Amino acid sequence: MDRIVVHRSGPLAGEVDVPGAKNSVLKLMVASLYAEGTHELTNVPAISDVDTMGSLLGALGVDVSHDLHRADVLLLTNRGDVKSIAPSELVETIRASINLLGPLLACKGHVRLDMPGGDDFGTRPIDMHIAGLTAMGAEFDLSHGNIEARADNLHGAHITLDFPSVGATENILTAAVHANGETIIENAAREPEVADLCDLLVEMGAQISGIGSSTLTIVGVERGSLKPVQHAVVPDRIQAATYLAATAVAGGDVIVRGARAHDMQVLLSRMNDMGLDITAVPGGVRIVSEGRMRAVDIQTLPYPGLATDYKPLLVTMLAVAEGSGIVTENLYPGRFRYVEELSKLGADIRTDGHHAIVRGVERLRGAAVVAPDIRAGAALVVAGLAAEGRTVISGIEHIDRGYDNLVGRLVALGAVVERVDMAVS
Ligand code: EPU
Repeated sequence: MDRIVVHRSGPLAGEVDVPGAKNSVLKLMVASLYAEGTHELTNVPAISDVDTMGSLLGALGVDVSHDLHRADVLLLTNRGDVKSIAPSELVETIRASINLLGPLLACKGHVRLDMPGGDDFGTRPIDMHIAGLTAMGAEFDLSHGNIEARADNLHGAHITLDFPSVGATENILTAAVHANGETIIENAAREPEVADLCDLLVEMGAQISGIGSSTLTIVGVERGSLKPVQHAVVPDRIQAATYLAATAVAGGDVIVRGARAHDMQVLLSRMNDMGLDITAVPGGVRIVSEGRMRAVDIQTLPYPGLATDYKPLLVTMLAVAEGSGIVTENLYPGRFRYVEELSKLGADIRTDGHHAIVRGVERLRGAAVVAPDIRAGAALVVAGLAAEGRTVISGIEHIDRGYDNLVGRLVALGAVVERVDMAVS
């Protein structure tokens, strides 16, 4: 029953730290399947998807717990008896459960799981995952409504992806860790979170080269040869962008600690184009926002292009900027569903297929809105900072999946926002 209630705020001031990335930590957690013993992840965000993945791994033979004295530290103890059948009710909750495919095939030669859940942006096929793993010798059976795959002897392969899919790249490279011989992935995804997974696997004993580039080469090593390690999760560039966007619409002067400018280059340069003063500072990124932003056109692309996950934030910024901007979504055609909610706040947005035209208005006005997914939910909170009156956001369990204390962090910057239980208020 919780809601987030936002009032027009600003200027924001101070510093905010960015926790580890959801889209990295969930995959790093899965890597605990490779090695018996206790793995330690630091800079872990307090988000519900981490809890869900923890339960999923628990059912597969890895005990997951938080360190009692360090809230951002997760301990994952692989008991040495990993199961290969994942429980449906947990798999259906998060998209990252698809990332069990590669490691379980590598370690057990078998995997069975339901079709994974996650945000609903329309169809989210896994054909490239299946094609890549099949080229390595896996055999799939999708006839019972779930995904079952077997591979007694995975072998290396030369795979060129049609599109640099994050999930397909991760599943192929994680399967290749124990395959016989060399696997080359061309047109691989280059997202910092993919590189973080590669870095962890290398620290554990895997052989991967080309990390961060579009050609990854993996040389298989013996099963049982990987070792548990301690690893810090890469900072979350999408959460970092959320605090930049909040300052952009509310005005102010904020340093986002932990944000890595080089991982966010295209976003930062588009924000500069909008008239915001963005600079890389030691250990973070500083934003100074004064006056009204200017509209720009944007299009989403795989990394290093502008991430689709930034888009709801950018659409919100354009909604209050001067002029009109054309937004083109190249990854998920269905990812404009939140536009209706922004319109309830007075935003002037027209969509046509995978394009949107956003005509900036001087003022948004508060209303009751519903968060349709993680990033759009956060964007509605940001929009509320620029809206007269009270904006009440429901559906915030979506926000909890990927944001670590969004409300508390915004309050610390001076925003007027609170989380309330409407049943008792
Ligand atoms: N695609 C296919 N076939 C495939 C795989 C992907 O057609 O076999 C298509 C997808 O339908 C989509 C595009 O390729 O149109 C990109 O999909 P990708 O595989 O790159 O995305 P993902 O691995 O499913 C991850 C993040 C998303 C993020 C995308 C793009 C996780 C758990 N999810 O999804 O994050 O939007 O990459 O960067 O890592 C979020 O965090 O809110 C979120 C949705």
